[in-house]
Amino acid sequence: MFIMIFELIKKRRSVFPAQYTNQPINKSEIEKILESANWAPTHKKTEPWRFKVFLENSKEQLGRFLAKKYKETEGNPKAFKVKKLLENPSRSAAVIAICMQRDPKESLPEWEEIAATAMAVQNMWLCCTEMGIGCYWSSPGLTKYMGEFVEMGDGELCLGFLYMGRYEEEITVSERKPVEEKVVWFN
Ligand SMILES: Cc1cc2nc3c(=O)[nH]c(=O)nc-3n(C[C@H](O)[C@H](O)[C@H](O)COP(=O)(O)O)c2cc1C
Repeated sequence: MFIMIFELIKKRRSVFPAQYTNQPINKSEIEKILESANWAPTHKKTEPWRFKVFLENSKEQLGRFLAKKYKETEGNPKAFKVKKLLENPSRSAAVIAICMQRDPKESLPEWEEIAATAMAVQNMWLCCTEMGIGCYWSSPGLTKYMGEFVEMGDGELCLGFLYMGRYEEEITVSERKPVEEKVVWFN
C-alpha cells in the first residue's frame, strides 16, 4: 500500500525490542534501509554517517559487551538494566550502530555532521515504517566505549544503536504538543 509521506511521518514510532517477534529481516531489506540513509542531505557533501551492522552472533557479543561495560563503569548497577543491555540485541533481528565520522579537515562544526547523521537515521526509521519493521534509536552513555568493541576511525563517534525487529502488536498512538506553541510567524 502506498502511504503519503505525511502519513508515514506520523505513523513512525519507536518500537522496542520487547515488542519484536523472532522473525528475521533479510539482508537485502537491511541494505535497502541503509541505502535510504545514504540519501540524507549533508553540508559540503561530507556524508558523515557510518554504520556497523550486527547480525547473528555479533548481536549477542554486543549485548555482552554493553552489559559488562555498564557493570564496570556504573557505581551501583541495576539488575534490570544489565538484563536489558544483555537481551535487547539478541531480541532484535539486527542492531545498527549509528556513527558519525568527522570530516578530517573539520570544515564544518561538529553539530552539522551530527545533524546530517540524525537525518540519515530518520530516513532509515521512515523506511522501516513503510516496510513494517519496528525500530528505535537507543543512545546509552556506553556508546563512548564502542571503540573497545569494534574498530572506530579517527574522529568517529558512536551516537547510539538502531535496534530493529519485526512486530505484530498494534503500535500505540503517540502525542505531540501543538506545533503552534513552537512557531513564531513574521510578516
Ligand atoms: C537522538 C535520539 C535518541 C534516543 N535515545 C533513546 C534512548 O536512549 N532510549 C529510549 O528509550 N528512547 C530513545 N529515543 C526514542 C525516543 O524516546 C522516542 O523517539 C520518543 O519517545 C518519541 O516516540 P516515537 O519515536 O514513538 O514518536 C531516542 C530518540 C532520538 C531521536
